[in-house]
Amino acid sequence: MIPRRHKYNIYAISVCTAVFLWFYMTWQRDDIYGVNLYDSTQTPASGVPSRDIMSRCVANIAADPSVDSKAKFYSVWNDSVNGEQFNVDLTKTVVFWTKMWKKHLNVYMPGKEGKLCPTLPQCTFTTNAENIRTADAVIFENSQLPLTYQMSEMPQTRFQHQYWIWLISECPNYLKINLNSYSAVFNWTITYRPDSDVSGAWGSQHLVYKRLKGADLDPNTDYSLGKTKLAVWFISKCSSRAHRILYAQELLKHIHVDIFGKCGRIVCDKQDFQCTVRHIRQYKFYLAFENMKCKQYITEKFWRHALGNNVVPVVLGAPKKDYEYLTPPNSFIHVDDFESPKSLANYLKLLDTDTEMYNQYFKWKTNPPKTIPLDDGVWCNLCRKLLGICPNTRKMYTNLDKWYRGENNDECEPVKNGTYQEVHFDTDDYDH
Ligand SMILES: *[C@@H]1O[C@H](CO)[C@@H](O)[C@H](O)[C@H]1NC(C)=O
Ligand SMILES: *[C@@H]1O[C@H](CO)[C@@H](O)[C@H](O)[C@H]1NC(C)=O
Ligand SMILES: *[C@@H]1O[C@H](CO)[C@@H](O)[C@H](O)[C@H]1NC(C)=O
Repeated sequence: MIPRRHKYNIYAISVCTAVFLWFYMTWQRDDIYGVNLYDSTQTPASGVPSRDIMSRCVANIAADPSVDSKAKFYSVWNDSVNGEQFNVDLTKTVVFWTKMWKKHLNVYMPGKEGKLCPTLPQCTFTTNAENIRTADAVIFENSQLPLTYQMSEMPQTRFQHQYWIWLISECPNYLKINLNSYSAVFNWTITYRPDSDVSGAWGSQHLVYKRLKGADLDPNTDYSLGKTKLAVWFISKCSSRAHRILYAQELLKHIHVDIFGKCGRIVCDKQDFQCTVRHIRQYKFYLAFENMKCKQYITEKFWRHALGNNVVPVVLGAPKKDYEYLTPPNSFIHVDDFESPKSLANYLKLLDTDTEMYNQYFKWKTNPPKTIPLDDGVWCNLCRKLLGICPNTRKMYTNLDKWYRGENNDECEPVKNGTYQEVHFDTDDYDH
C-alpha cells in the first residue's frame, strides 16, 4: 500500500513530468516536413468562421479547367441543403484513420489527441478511431493504404459533410498503390503540390520568411565566412538510373565534392541531425539533387539542409520555373542554367573566389517578395481550410491517378533505362 500522502506526491511528480515533456517536445519538434509548426509570433486565426461564412458561400466554386488544367479529374458541387440548416461548427475534428509513416504522431499526441496547430486550437486531431462519427475530416496516409482499395479497411459509415483526405509526401514515380481503384473515394488531397487542397509541401517561402521575421539580419553579412570547404552532397539512394547520378558523375570530374551518406562516406548516424548540420555548415554549396525529376517536387534537401543552414543549394530536379515560383528569389543555382556539368563546376569555382557574387545568393533574406502564398505547415493549413470552407461545398476526385501522375504520366520524367545498379562514390577517387 502506498500511503495517501505519497500518492499525491507521485501524482504531482507525474503531472510535472508530463508538463515538462510536453514543453520539451514542443520545443524540439519539427513537423513531418521539417518545418516548425509552432510559431508564437502568429496571432490567432483571422480565418475563424462565423455565420458570415455563408456570405462567402454564395459565390460558389465550380471546377474550372481554365484555372486548373487538372479540373477534369475531380468534381466540385454544392450540396442541396438550405442555408438555414447549415451547421457551422466553430470547432473541427480530424481523425487519422491510418497510421502515419513514422508513427511520430504518438510522440506529438501522447493521449491520442492533440492540437497540432497551436495557433488554431479550434482543430483537434486524434488517432482515436472512435471519433470517426463526429469527424469533419479523415486522413488516410498513402503508405498505409492497401495497394488496391478495400472497403473493409475504410470507415464503415460515410457522412456527406466529411472530407476524406489522401495524404502523400512522395512524388508519383514512387507510387506502388493502384490509384485507379481509389477513384471516387477521396474528397481532398494533401501532397507536395501547391494545387493540392491542402499544401503538404516540404517547406515554403512563407515559413522561411516567418522564421526570419524579427531576426534583424544585416544585409551586408558575409555568408562565405567560416566556410572552409566547397561542395557537399548527402546521398542515400544510389540507383544508377536516377538522373542525378549521371550528372554528378560528370560534375565530379571537374570539381571536388565531399559525398556523404549511404552512397558515399558515412559520417553521421542517420538520426543525428546535429552531425549533418555541423558538416553542411562548413560548405559553400550543397547539392540538393532530387531523387526524381518531378514538377514542383522540392524536398527538405532544399529547405532544411541547404537554406536552413545558410548554404547555397545547387538544384537538379523540378524545372527552374518551379523553383522560381516556389522558393525565395535567387536563392539557388539550377543545373539547367549551364550547358554542361563542367561549366557549372567552373561557375562554382568562380563563386568560391568572388565573395560579392556568392553573397548575392543571400540577398533574399533581407528582401522578401511582397506576396507569398500563405503556408503555416500542413496541419495549420488543413485546419484553416476546414474552418473556412463553405459547409455545402462538395468535392471528389474522380480520377486520382491521372490527377497525381498527369494525364500523360508527365508529372515526372521517367527514370533512365538500363539495369539497376547501386552506385558508390568514393570521394577520394575524384580528389583534385
Ligand atoms: C451553390 O450554392 C449557393 C448557395 O449557397 C448558390 O448561390 C450557388 O448558385 C450554388 N452553385 C452551384 C454551382 O450550384
Ligand atoms: C466526399 O465524396 C463522397 C463521394 O466519394 C461524396 O458522397 C461526399 O459528398 C463528399 N463530401 C464532401 C464533403 O465533399
Ligand atoms: C526505355 O525502354 C522502354 C521499353 O523497354 C522503351 O519503350 C522506351 O522508349 C525507352 N526509353 C528510352 C528513353 O530509351
